[in-house]
Amino acid sequence: MRVRKAIFPAAGRGTRFLPATKTLPKEMLPLIDKPLIHYGIEEALASGIKSIIIITCRGKSAIEDYFDVSYELEMLLQEREKTDLLQRVREISELVEISYVRQKSPLGVGHAIYIAKELVGEEPFAVLFADDIIQASVPCIKQLIMAAEKLKSPVLAIQQVRKEETSKYGIIQGEKIADRLYRITDMVEKPSPEEAPSDLAVVGRYVLTPELFPLLEKTLPDKSGEIQITDGLRLLTQQVPIYGYQFEGTRFDAGSKCGMLKAIVKLALEHPEVGVEFKEYLKSLRL
Ligand code: G1P
Repeated sequence: MRVRKAIFPAAGRGTRFLPATKTLPKEMLPLIDKPLIHYGIEEALASGIKSIIIITCRGKSAIEDYFDVSYELEMLLQEREKTDLLQRVREISELVEISYVRQKSPLGVGHAIYIAKELVGEEPFAVLFADDIIQASVPCIKQLIMAAEKLKSPVLAIQQVRKEETSKYGIIQGEKIADRLYRITDMVEKPSPEEAPSDLAVVGRYVLTPELFPLLEKTLPDKSGEIQITDGLRLLTQQVPIYGYQFEGTRFDAGSKCGMLKAIVKLALEHPEVGVEFKEYLKSLRL
């Protein structure tokens, strides 16, 4: 089982960041000096992914422009002899081949993944959510790919969350079978703490197999009118073994304001250009 393709669903509305996301796609919000989705794509490439599929929608063309060649900008940087910047800008358009699929109606992440079916074909694939930023010595999606290759089955990234937070996540029911590894028997999307089958939440990294597509096609929208990936995966658990892997690393929910701030502070402190000055500034606040 070789995982070569990765899907980035990027057709959500980003309501938690309104009004910024009125014109700027959530995936393009900057973490210091790169948009969120750039971090996810770097993670995928560092994990051996060769081909990227981004699911977009109306109003998201900034994502396509970002990964394209910017001829005017490159000319300008060249004229001004800004060689370092020129190289950084050029590298982005040379990163990887990206295909785009437009989601015409806001039918949810499950549907967004479904419409990548033709581009994925008959092979296993990764799914990454750009707003989950994960720092790890071995990239999170690589950890899942390695587990999936061994198990020859789908593997989802999971992490323990506080009971009162279960309503923000897909929560698994499962049985621990090895260090960090759970066999998933069922899943529920955003259950209340009372209804949650465990405190193990799925985060936005998945390695999946094409058996999921016909199940997503059958999955009905939930109360909010969206087709949830969790509901499709729930059907998949009835057909093939699927696993949850407690990845090693730190995850930031950059899709929430506080999570974004935490990610900014952590990355800024480690940033070669601004780290030292920023640390001094934080110290001067005497919190
Ligand atoms: C989505 C998934 C959810 C998962 C979460 C991880 O929810 O539906 O199962 O736990 O991502 O970030 P969202 O955050 O898009 O509401």
